[in-house]
This record gives sequence, C-alpha cells and structure tokens, in this order.
Amino acid sequence: MTDLTLTQMAVDVLTTADGRVKTALSHQHAATWFASRDAGKALEIGNAVPPMQPSRPEKPELLSPRDVPRRRPGSPQGRIALLHAVAHIELNAVDLHWDIIARFSDEPMPVGFYDDWVKSADEESKHFNLICDCLEAMGSHYGALPAHAGMWRAAEDTAQDFMGRLAVVPMVLEARGLDVTPGMIQVFKQAKEAKTIEALELIYAEEVGHVAYGSKWFHFLCGRNNLDPKDVFHTLVRRYFHSTLKPPFNEEKRAEAGLPPDFYWPLADETPRKKRT
Ligand SMILES: [Fe+2]
Ligand SMILES: [Fe+2]
Repeated sequence: MTDLTLTQMAVDVLTTADGRVKTALSHQHAATWFASRDAGKALEIGNAVPPMQPSRPEKPELLSPRDVPRRRPGSPQGRIALLHAVAHIELNAVDLHWDIIARFSDEPMPVGFYDDWVKSADEESKHFNLICDCLEAMGSHYGALPAHAGMWRAAEDTAQDFMGRLAVVPMVLEARGLDVTPGMIQVFKQAKEAKTIEALELIYAEEVGHVAYGSKWFHFLCGRNNLDPKDVFHTLVRRYFHSTLKPPFNEEKRAEAGLPPDFYWPLADETPRKKRT
C-alpha cells in the first residue's frame, strides 16, 4: 500500500519524463488504486496540483505539425513513422488521463469517476508500451523521429473548464481515434504485420471505452448543473477546439461510446469539396 493520495499519484506520473518509466509508474499506481477499492477503502483523492506541462523525454524532438515529415504508409519507413506518431499520441494520452484526475479535484465526483480515469490511464500506458514494442521489433524506437508539438494544447486550453476538458479530449480527440484507427489497421493488414495489427485492434476496442467515459461524465455534469448536453457540447467545442470536425465519422463506434450524430455533425467541416475539373 501507499501513503500517496490519488492526485499525488497523478502528479508523480505527470512529472516523470521517460516514457517506459512513466507508464510503469502509471501501472503501479493504477494497481494500488484498484487494490484499495477492492479492500473497500478507496485512497483519498487529495488536492495535489498537477504541472501545467507534463515532463517528457529529451527525444523525440517536437516540431510544428507542418514541419513533421509526411508519412508514406506504403513503405516500411512510412509504417514506422505512422507508429511513431501513434506512440506519441498514447504517451500524451497517459498524461491527459492522469491530468484530468488531478486538475479538477475541486469538483466533488463519485468514486466511479476516478475508477474510469485510472482504468483509462492504465490502458493508455499499455498502449504506449505495445506500440513501442512494435517500433522496436521494426528496428526503431520512440524518440527516433520528430513528433508533433502542441499535443498538450487541448489540456492547456481547458485547464480551467472541467466540462470543456471532457468535451474536447475524450469526446472530440479520442473519438477521432475511432474514425481513423480502422484505416490504420488496414495499412498493417496489407503489410501482414500481425503483431501491430493485434496491438491496434486492442487499442481500437479499448478506446471506445474512453470515449464512453467522457460522454458518461459529461452527461453527469450536465445533469448536475441542469444543462442541455448537446447545446453545451457545441458551445464548449466551438470555444476550445480550434478546428472543425472531419468526416467521415465512425458512426457505429461513436454510437457505442454514447456519442449521437447530432453532437458531432453540426460541428463538421461541411464546406463543399472543390470539384475536380
Ligand atoms: Fe490509447
Ligand atoms: Fe484513450
């Protein structure tokens, strides 16, 4: 057992730079949390303050998205670049899940809220390690290529707004993962890379749960504050998300995760595509 509160555990993960060490701590703290729950005495939530930016390793070099070299998934190098980008997203997700636990500890939440986010953080840690294993099996590693700077932007933008955080991170960004992962799995099926297909399929299945947790707790807070969920969602996404949502949407998985079409379609980029001449 431990003397740490849950928010101290979150800060512990957030202030650890190395990806493998960060995710090992994340697994360890998640196990401690669930052991305390099983013993019938949940750890204290506490009120430790998370850093504005999580600690990250020296590598990868972080570049503006426009300067990150384009991926050509048809080649082994292109597939490595694609997986490297996924590893970067997963590491960011580990921090995002611990950050939401500590950032909004002022708002009293049912203990089930913490169960959901600790479980998600634990799963994101597994995702990062699985993708790192795949990269290493392909002769590369996380840190070998540059990665997108600005991944933490959504966290900073919503640092003062709990409902804004739920709207933008799980219900927009992680939902986008549901839209694009099947195409990525297809790339690795064509290359017959069984280990990576297996990892991506597991990630795809577990990410539905993360979006569902976002939707569940967003609706909970709307109910607590007597707000109309759809209207508030639109307002918050327009306020904090600096882009439009890009179809095609994975309507089936989004539905499974509790995201109805009238939440996302009104925010979609519906500018008619230029006709080819
Ligand atoms: Fe993930
Ligand atoms: Fe996730």
